[in-house]
Amino acid sequence: MKVLVVGSGGREHALAWKLAASPSVSRLYCAPGNAGIARQAELVDLKADDLPGLLAWCSDNRPDLVVVGPERPLVLGFADRLREAAIPVYGPSAAAARMEGSKAFTDELLSRHGLSHKRFGIFTDPASARAYVRQHGAPIVVKADGDAFGKGVKVAATIEEAEAFIDRCMVEKAFGPNGETVVIEECLVGPEVTIKVFADGSDILPMPPAQDYKRVGDGDRGDNTGGMGCYSPVPILDAAMHAFILANLVEPTIRALAEEGTPYVGTLYCGCILTDRGPEILEYNCRFGDPEAQVILPRLDSDFVDILQAAVEGRIREVTPIWSDNRSVCVVLASGGYPADYEKGKVITGIDEAEAATGAVVFHAGTALRNGDLVTAGGRVLGVTALGPTFAAARGVAYDAVSRIHFGGMYYRRDLAQRAVEAEQASV
Ligand code: GLY
Repeated sequence: MKVLVVGSGGREHALAWKLAASPSVSRLYCAPGNAGIARQAELVDLKADDLPGLLAWCSDNRPDLVVVGPERPLVLGFADRLREAAIPVYGPSAAAARMEGSKAFTDELLSRHGLSHKRFGIFTDPASARAYVRQHGAPIVVKADGDAFGKGVKVAATIEEAEAFIDRCMVEKAFGPNGETVVIEECLVGPEVTIKVFADGSDILPMPPAQDYKRVGDGDRGDNTGGMGCYSPVPILDAAMHAFILANLVEPTIRALAEEGTPYVGTLYCGCILTDRGPEILEYNCRFGDPEAQVILPRLDSDFVDILQAAVEGRIREVTPIWSDNRSVCVVLASGGYPADYEKGKVITGIDEAEAATGAVVFHAGTALRNGDLVTAGGRVLGVTALGPTFAAARGVAYDAVSRIHFGGMYYRRDLAQRAVEAEQASV
C-alpha cells in the first residue's frame, strides 16, 4: 500500500521509520519531511499546512492511507477534505481537532459531560477577564483559546502576571485571532502525566505512557521548549492510575465527542495532573506527542499500519498490539540558543557511527542537506532513542550515542530519565 506522512519533525521521522518497517507498505511518502526521513520515504515538496497542494497531490497519487503528524492541518480541516475525497486518513476532523485547537471548546465539553471539575471562565473582552482574575486571585492559569505555537499558556503566580498575559493576548494580540478569546482556569497542583491513545471514533487503544521534559535546562530550569527528551514507560503512572484515567476520563471524552456528532479518529493526547482530589485533565492534543512518538513507537513490536487502518475503519477493538517490555529513552539534541534565537547550517557528523556502534536510533527533527553535507535546520535537530532492559541501560546507550554526534553549538540536557532510573532502583 501507498502511505503519505504529513510533517517534517522528529515525530514524523518516528512515524515514517515505523511505517517503513511494515511489510504492507510498498511506497512511503512524506510531505515535506527532512533529510533523515528521506532515508525511509520519498519526500514530497509540500509544506504541512499547504492544504490545496497536499489535496491535489493526494488526488493525483491516491494514497491508501494518510497519517498526519502536526495539529495545524487537522485544525484547518485537512482530514475532512480527504474523507470527502474518499482517501483514508488517520487524524481527526476539524470539529474533533478543536480538542487542541480551542481551549474553550474543550473546557466546555468536559464540563458539560462531568469530566472536569476545575473552575474556569471564558472571556472575549479584557476588562471581564481582568475582573475574573481579581475576583479569584493567583496563582491562576490564563490560556489563549486557539493555537499559539506552544506559547499560549501562562501559569501566573501573581494577579499582575495574569493581567499582563491577558493584555498580551487580547490587547497586543500577540497570537492574532487565536488569542482574542482567553480561558482562565483554576491552577491545579500535582505531578503531571500524559496519556496517549489510538481512537477510532468510538473505541480506544492505549499506547504505553511516556514522559517528556519541557524545560530547556537540567533540573527543569529555563524556558519551555517543544520537548528536550522523553522516556517510556513512566514509573509515577502505575497501571491502576493509567487504567483509571483511561476508563474515567479518556474513554468518556471519546464517547462525549461521538454523542455530540464529532467522532474522534486519530491519536488523542491527554495531559493530566494528579491532584489531591484525583486526576484532572489539563489539556488535550489531537496528535502524537513530539518527542513522545520517538520513545513509544520503538517499543511497538507489531505492525503499526494494522493499528492505524483498524482505527480508520472503526474496528480498533480487533487489534491487540504487542509492546516491548524494554525501557526507552530519547535525548533531543538542540541548536545552541534554542528555544530563543539559534543559528542554522551547522554541519552534523557522527550519526551513522553512533547508530552502528550503539544500536540507538537517531531521528531527525531539524536537518537538511546542503552541498552533500547534513546540516542543522531547526531548534530541535535530532532525537537519539535507545532501548534497554532497564532505564539505566537505555539511558547509558542513548548518551553513549549522543557522545559520538557533533555539530556547532550542539546542546542537550544531561539529566534525562535520571528520575526514572532512580524510581527503578528504589523499587528493587
Ligand atoms: N511533547 C509535548 C507535545 O508534543 O505537545
